[in-house]
Amino acid sequence: MESYVSETEQRVAFADTMIYDRFRKKESLNGIWHYAVDQYDTCMIHKWYEEKYYDDKGNLLPVDYSFDEWDTMNLPCCWNTFDKMYLLYEGSMIFTRKFFFERQREDERVLLKIGAVNYLCRVFLNKKYVGMHRGGSTPFYFDITDFLEHSNRILIQADSTRRDEQVPPAITDWFNYGGIYRDIEIIRVPKIHIKKFQISLEPGSDFKKIRTDIMLSETVNSTAVLTIDELGIKQEIMINNGKGEIIFEAFPKLWSPENPKLYQVTLSCENDVVSDRVGFREIQVKGMDILFNGKPIFLRGISCHEDSAANGKALTDEERRENICIAKELGCNFMRVAHYPHSERMAQLADELGILLWEEIPVYWNVHFKSEDTYQDAENQLCELITRDFNRASVIIWSVGNENNDTDDRLKFMGKLAEFSHKIDHTRLVSAACFANFVKNVIDDRLEKYLDIIGINEYYGWYSPDFKILSEILDNSNPQKPVIITEFGADAYAGNRGTITDKGTEDCQAFIYEKQIENIQKISYIKGMTPWILRDFRCPRRTNITQKYYNTKGLISANGTRKMAFYILRDFYNSIK
Ligand code: GCU
Repeated sequence: MESYVSETEQRVAFADTMIYDRFRKKESLNGIWHYAVDQYDTCMIHKWYEEKYYDDKGNLLPVDYSFDEWDTMNLPCCWNTFDKMYLLYEGSMIFTRKFFFERQREDERVLLKIGAVNYLCRVFLNKKYVGMHRGGSTPFYFDITDFLEHSNRILIQADSTRRDEQVPPAITDWFNYGGIYRDIEIIRVPKIHIKKFQISLEPGSDFKKIRTDIMLSETVNSTAVLTIDELGIKQEIMINNGKGEIIFEAFPKLWSPENPKLYQVTLSCENDVVSDRVGFREIQVKGMDILFNGKPIFLRGISCHEDSAANGKALTDEERRENICIAKELGCNFMRVAHYPHSERMAQLADELGILLWEEIPVYWNVHFKSEDTYQDAENQLCELITRDFNRASVIIWSVGNENNDTDDRLKFMGKLAEFSHKIDHTRLVSAACFANFVKNVIDDRLEKYLDIIGINEYYGWYSPDFKILSEILDNSNPQKPVIITEFGADAYAGNRGTITDKGTEDCQAFIYEKQIENIQKISYIKGMTPWILRDFRCPRRTNITQKYYNTKGLISANGTRKMAFYILRDFYNSIK
């Protein structure tokens, strides 16, 4: 059977096919789609999407699909939580629906935006191949203008197969949800439209300068106009060869978790108008301090997966809002949204509700660090994440990975990612969650020279019982940059009580939080912490009698029960606010 892979490698959607789309009018394709499980990729191999019902002589052909009689699923969703029959299904599913389309303007371009598909996605429209995307957590766009008719059939393959050459690789410590799990939308834009619109407070400008960078879809010369009514700003920006940038004086009220002030900003150019709600703030590292709006800050954080018992990765706005509100109730000013890009709604809600974010790409554990293809996949996901969330004041740190052994290949791979992040975003900090050197008992990861902040995961009291080693590591180390303890914690089954040494009890988890906090708060170079983790989350690697396929290091159980350690952390954060 011919391989369809080579055919469908032609039109891969990368970050450069993204457009600026917040607050643009969108026509939703969410809702009822027909679907079939396609374990053997028969749809791709036998080209079901061509819908060949007759041979050249007009004889009816036997076909193995009946698109509009298939079962239906309400998208976006994770198929794993849609039907328990699919909980553990990994592989391809085929989704299809029809829709009508009327052109509105002669020169309009029509884009299809899909918020995320885990992991590979191939799109067909009216029997023709449109393109593909790889990467399970970032949005992608296709120009479908020339594929559209009045009555259309769209067909999408979502392939959640884990592969070692992917990012993340096959083995992780979270659940592999599959599906088209974020919005599917049609966006109409003028032929000359705004592809990139980045606006931020210019670092080092004493909070008095705003910088805007623009890129159009065409390499034309033009003029754009940026307005921020509340600041009395109406600023012309020259566009040369499709690009323009400007730095101008402004005195915005600064955004902060305590006062999440957002401004309506509007940018118009040619026949296109876009807008955003933006907070202006500065994040920098100076010596051993993390400076937020010029003042030293301690990042009172908590880690958080994108995982809900009911909806998998397809959290509702209410669930995301609840996670942020609970973090704030814990006394947090910071969340580590791990280990992959969460929905764009998370950073938008964080802007509105006021909490700082660490966002991360899933360069997790044993990535194929020698592979150039794997590097390109990682860099593209990082670029898609930064392009998507550049205007989000809440996002202060891009993380290039988590818990990767300090090898030469990893150093080269992740060092390059860190340099790339600094190159395309000079307004944020770059970090990664690293290991300490557990042989020498010191923090000395070679990746540190590329990072602004050193993240350290350590589980003393849990995986490594002896707390004395933690204090030895912390005392032995002399990091030249601020450190965030990006993970510590312990499993606890809610309601399971016992002694502080009984693993899996709330008492043991609470004791470990107390001892961790006792050790961490003594160390002046530690400028933040994001204990692992806000909620218990699905995890196929966790099968003991109290875990039952959940990682139970949450401060809150999957059914919402708060554990003793929740209050230990809350009391500590409230004591240092
Ligand atoms: C690791 C890893 C997490 C994992 C956690 C655990 O540090 O970063 O993804 O869930 O430890 O063991 O629970």
